[in-house]
Amino acid sequence: MTVGVIGSGAMGAGIAQVAAMAGHSVILYDNNAAALGKAKAGLTATLQKLQEKGKLPNAEEVLQRFSFAENISAFADCGLILEAIVERLEVKKAVFGEVEKAVSDTCILASNTSSLSITSIAAACNNPARVMGLHFFNPAPLMALVEIIPAIQTNPELVPFAKDLMLKWGKTPVIAKDTPGFIVNRVARPFYSEAIRVYEEGIADMATIDWAMTEIGGFRMGPFTLMDYIGHDVNYVVTETVFQSFFYDARYKPSFSQKRLLEAGWLGRKSGKGFYNYAEGAEMPAPNKDKVLGTEIVERVLAMLINEAVDALYLKVASAADLETAMTKGVNYPKGLLQWCNEWGTDKCLEKLDGLYHQYHEDRYRASILLRKQAIENKKIV
Ligand SMILES: NC(=O)c1ccc[n+]([C@@H]2O[C@H](COP(=O)([O-])OP(=O)(O)OC[C@H]3O[C@@H](n4cnc5c(N)ncnc54)[C@H](O)[C@@H]3O)[C@@H](O)[C@H]2O)c1
Repeated sequence: MTVGVIGSGAMGAGIAQVAAMAGHSVILYDNNAAALGKAKAGLTATLQKLQEKGKLPNAEEVLQRFSFAENISAFADCGLILEAIVERLEVKKAVFGEVEKAVSDTCILASNTSSLSITSIAAACNNPARVMGLHFFNPAPLMALVEIIPAIQTNPELVPFAKDLMLKWGKTPVIAKDTPGFIVNRVARPFYSEAIRVYEEGIADMATIDWAMTEIGGFRMGPFTLMDYIGHDVNYVVTETVFQSFFYDARYKPSFSQKRLLEAGWLGRKSGKGFYNYAEGAEMPAPNKDKVLGTEIVERVLAMLINEAVDALYLKVASAADLETAMTKGVNYPKGLLQWCNEWGTDKCLEKLDGLYHQYHEDRYRASILLRKQAIENKKIV
């Protein structure tokens, strides 16, 4: 099967590499010739490096599977098209409408969108049943997780097909309902937003929160370091899109602290400044390594994360197993949030959330009904 990839940026090039390494002929298309040239040079260098490291027997053989197209008519014989262009619904809809005219009737069309509705993208096609979401994580060749998202119009037979294909590509697929943020970008929101809330209220500074979440919580990166790493142009925009898509549910409310960084162009590491200053010689602030304060921060953020995961389970966004896989493989959490909930105790999680709810009187802190039910019955989540 020939695979077509639209958009040769960070994600498109990465996905194209994964498909070619799995043995497919790949046609990479971008409407920007310079971007396409950059992707070609980048892929050549990456594959040669993999060969030098002994991780790929023959880079040339894989490179020969690629062709680079400046016109979508090149997709005529593709069996699968993966779209990874700019994250704007109107642009994606226009491209899907165009691509459908260029491919065969049996070609499957997938979007790598992080936060847009697959259903609305599918609606741009004459045959929406052939459209689905295949959400890879960055960098696509290294991150195992792929979220498979059937739209409400998607032919159900495409789900097992996509699952098999992703397994053949060496990926770990999970299935998510077409709801804002799918699994990872929904459940992970409090990791960022609750940390910012703790900072904005002056309970602790950024360095202390980052220290607590890594040293006490066991997360690989603290929230502020991670947001600076992802970039506020990406992380803030996902938060805002998820918030709007949830009909302005207070649980997903973005923060002014992060919005201002975006407005200032302080995008994080890539622009030399974000929450932290990365200029040469700039000193990183030192954390306050107070164990009691640190534990309070971790428990607050973790309770919010667990609540999101439990609510996603309750609302059938994904199965319990897929929720655990998504958070450990997609954002490298030290353990699944449902397991964490069980270990911590549903009663303790509920107590923490109800404590916050009574303190703030904000809907943001409402506990999932599933958490309440299980805690009252003295049961585990699953
Ligand atoms: N970067 C991430 O961490 C990440 C992770 C998962 C999913 N995504 C999603 O993947 C998609 C791409 O993200 P990215 O980070 O690779 O973006 P990017 O800006 O690196 O690349 C996008 C590419 O698409 C091309 N493009 C834009 N409009 C086009 C059009 N109409 N036709 C053809 N090509 C067009 C651009 O020239 C560019 O080369 C987005 O939907 C994004 O939400 C991104």
